[in-house]
Amino acid sequence: MTAELPSLVLRGTTLRFAGNPFDMPPEEALIADPDGAIIIENGRISAVGSFSTLASTLPATLPIIDHRPCLIGPGFIDAHVHYPQFGVIASYGEQLLSWLERYVFPEERRFADRAYADSIAGAFLDSLLDHGTTTAAVYCTVHPESVDAFFSASRQRNTRMIAGKVLMDRNAPDFLRDTAQQGYDESRDLIDRWHGQGRQLYAVTPRFAPTSTEEQLTLAGALLDTAPDLFMQTHLLETKQEARWVEALFPHRAGYLDVYDQAGLVRPRSIFGHAVHVTENDLTRCAHAGCTLAHCPTSNAFLGSGAFRLFEAMRPDRRVHVALGSDIGGGNSLSMLRVMNDAYTAAQTHGTSLHPVQSYWLATAGAAQALGLAPTIGRLEEGAEADLCVLNPQATPLLAQRAARAESVSDLLFALLMLGDDRAIEATYIMGRRHRASP
Ligand code: GUN
Ligand code: ZN
Repeated sequence: MTAELPSLVLRGTTLRFAGNPFDMPPEEALIADPDGAIIIENGRISAVGSFSTLASTLPATLPIIDHRPCLIGPGFIDAHVHYPQFGVIASYGEQLLSWLERYVFPEERRFADRAYADSIAGAFLDSLLDHGTTTAAVYCTVHPESVDAFFSASRQRNTRMIAGKVLMDRNAPDFLRDTAQQGYDESRDLIDRWHGQGRQLYAVTPRFAPTSTEEQLTLAGALLDTAPDLFMQTHLLETKQEARWVEALFPHRAGYLDVYDQAGLVRPRSIFGHAVHVTENDLTRCAHAGCTLAHCPTSNAFLGSGAFRLFEAMRPDRRVHVALGSDIGGGNSLSMLRVMNDAYTAAQTHGTSLHPVQSYWLATAGAAQALGLAPTIGRLEEGAEADLCVLNPQATPLLAQRAARAESVSDLLFALLMLGDDRAIEATYIMGRRHRASP
């Protein structure tokens, strides 16, 4: 396969990080070269620099794609998304628990049918790439077929994806329930089949504490020790109603996070979606454990769940890893530009301002670092996989007139985050291959 991967040069405004914009002035953390070049050999970045310097070193046979005046950066990383909810995105009138019952569970039932799962998995992945997202942590359904469908579609596109079978052995309709043992066995089979195969990575996926018995959560913890570098994903403290339910279901635990902790689920490569209603103790524990919180502001606004306290989570003295998630269908857009827009709004409601370079970091290099995937993805660096997203600041008339007034690259980035969506994605590259390019 590697022999078939493309070699080429991309020219445009390259976006690189000098460091973490939460640890240094954000303006200094972004290095933008208005006439930069990225050399891709066999699907990997072999050099990044100014076009004029690199041009003389290029073999004449290497195609040059000129993306000026667009910005070229790493592909976006969506740390929390449900592919089976692609069809019920934008469903009216409910909050979390009734929304799950009314829209999500009936739709997830359909993924017992492999052909249906195949069709949604393909459409979802193509749409994700149209939105500039090249890696995502993805929930499938309780059906192993839904996982095979997803990873097959990802393998076909050669995307780096994290996904897993949902575990649910109680408080869900019988057509969506497994048992603790069945969930373990099916997950084990799927790990053997997919984890580390090509670019595919497996996440053990208990949906959330209310839909798993303690036995199932404990077995989920045991699964994490059966192969190296497995991920874990679940939901945590998304709404107050859900938090009260967990207290009633697990009265002997110190809190919602402790339910997961006692099962061995709070560790590096564990991704907790939402965490809107976390306490200071929770944040201290997360910082210690090295797990990641997936901030899903679009979903939190859409479902009326609340606003995550990003700057509290990122406090330097006990920094918690944070990444961003679209959480469709709780979120109503796959666009990480829209998610960054809503992350800005969520921070504003707490009286804080999220700088565009900080936001861009959370959606790219910061997420890769949080998930243990740096330096493989998330940055324009020599040796990294060439998963790239090209942003067009002139995609719409509204954006173009604002872009013309931009005072700096970070101001231009801010305009893109506030006004952009999939129309601003000029191109997406997966290991150097352009998505939707004609063969
Ligand atoms: N909590 C448990 N399941 C879900 C889900 O599918 N979406 C969201 N947003 N929250 C959940
Ligand atoms: Zn979710």
